[in-house]
Amino acid sequence: MRVVVGISGGIAAYKAALAIRELVQAGHDVHVVPTASALRFIGRPTLEALSRNPVTDEVFDDVAAVRHVALGQQADLIVVLPATANTIAKLALGLADDLLGTTILASRAPLVIAPAMHTEMWDQAAVQANVATLRGRGTIVVGPVAGQLTGTDSGMGRMAEPHDVVAAAVAVVAGRIADGPLARRRVVVSAGGTREPIDPVRFLGNRSSGAMGVAVATAARDAGAAVTLVGANLDVAVPDGVELVAVETTAQLAAAMEAHASADVVVMAAAVADYRVADVSDGKRSKEEWGAEPTLQLTENPDILAGLAQRDRTNLVVGFAAETEDDDAALLERGRAKLARKGADLLVLNRVGHETGFGDVGTHIRVLDASGVIAEATGQKASVAREIVDQVAQRLAARTGTIQNH
Ligand code: CTP
Repeated sequence: MRVVVGISGGIAAYKAALAIRELVQAGHDVHVVPTASALRFIGRPTLEALSRNPVTDEVFDDVAAVRHVALGQQADLIVVLPATANTIAKLALGLADDLLGTTILASRAPLVIAPAMHTEMWDQAAVQANVATLRGRGTIVVGPVAGQLTGTDSGMGRMAEPHDVVAAAVAVVAGRIADGPLARRRVVVSAGGTREPIDPVRFLGNRSSGAMGVAVATAARDAGAAVTLVGANLDVAVPDGVELVAVETTAQLAAAMEAHASADVVVMAAAVADYRVADVSDGKRSKEEWGAEPTLQLTENPDILAGLAQRDRTNLVVGFAAETEDDDAALLERGRAKLARKGADLLVLNRVGHETGFGDVGTHIRVLDASGVIAEATGQKASVAREIVDQVAQRLAARTGTIQNH
């Protein structure tokens, strides 16, 4: 989901870095909005590197994109950590004199704040009244807790641990997505790259990190689906709230997908080895056994996607195709042919090269159905994945509509 992390100017601002990292690792698209004084405690480069998105506290940067409104409108969740006494007061009043203020006012997303201040400040009637006002409007207040404060004193006012703030915030949203576009749907997504053993220590593999499939699983979870991720040798973290079935080989991946073939949506984002080694050796093969010019006998693997698609079914089957074709028309043609050959409902087509397409990088995708290109998207995998899930949800909704009309 899209999370705005607001940071206000207290010493605990450095702890926001941990929360940002945790949210990004869980697959969320994180946009950081610091106040001007927060930037005196923690540097913009740190926030940009961790969130992987540009960071500004300026309302007047990038005005054409109407950033001060867009950030809030597009957010699924806003978390302010730390929330200082000053920021809490501004929120209670509804002030909009900086980017964080405008972002929060322009949003209908749940707001979670993690106050942090000295005990005397926290105990002030003014602060307590402001916190009560915010609570009354539905703001979730996490902490503060008692413990070591800045300097030598300790007491109530320490910010709750970043992990606890993140967990509380994510739980708030989870409770609200029961009406998401994929609510009550089961989605299974394969991700990563399969490995085919040569002997107990060697394998044939590919460079897939699993980032794209994990992004799709995350977007499906955020849309309210119950998601199973069949992960083959993943190089990226598994998002919270997603069931993981870890596999290594193509045969294991095929079995896991078969077990979940009745899901409402089946997505094959894994890079599946087309061939496996015909005679896997029980022991580690020595150079002496290999000889000077060894050959590996390979045998073809089953096409899992085609198997899932070409059966009696009512669910939606989605394939991926990563192609290296430079010519656009030829790329599209390969995509169309692949969609038809596999028998999937949708095919997500993207171009990869030696330097593009793998890991956590920007990407450009097109979604094809039998009629041609129905959607395209450019951006980080998290946002591209949301577009894919939107298309899936629309198609499912249209189908349900058709059945109900009959
Ligand atoms: N796929 C699969 N089983 C295989 C190979 C591929 O399920 N044995 C799936 C992939 O997960 C992906 C889609 O098929 O969703 C396209 O993968 P790709 O490797 O492009 O397909 P291939 O059939 O191997 O086509 P090519 O001839 O271009 O290699």
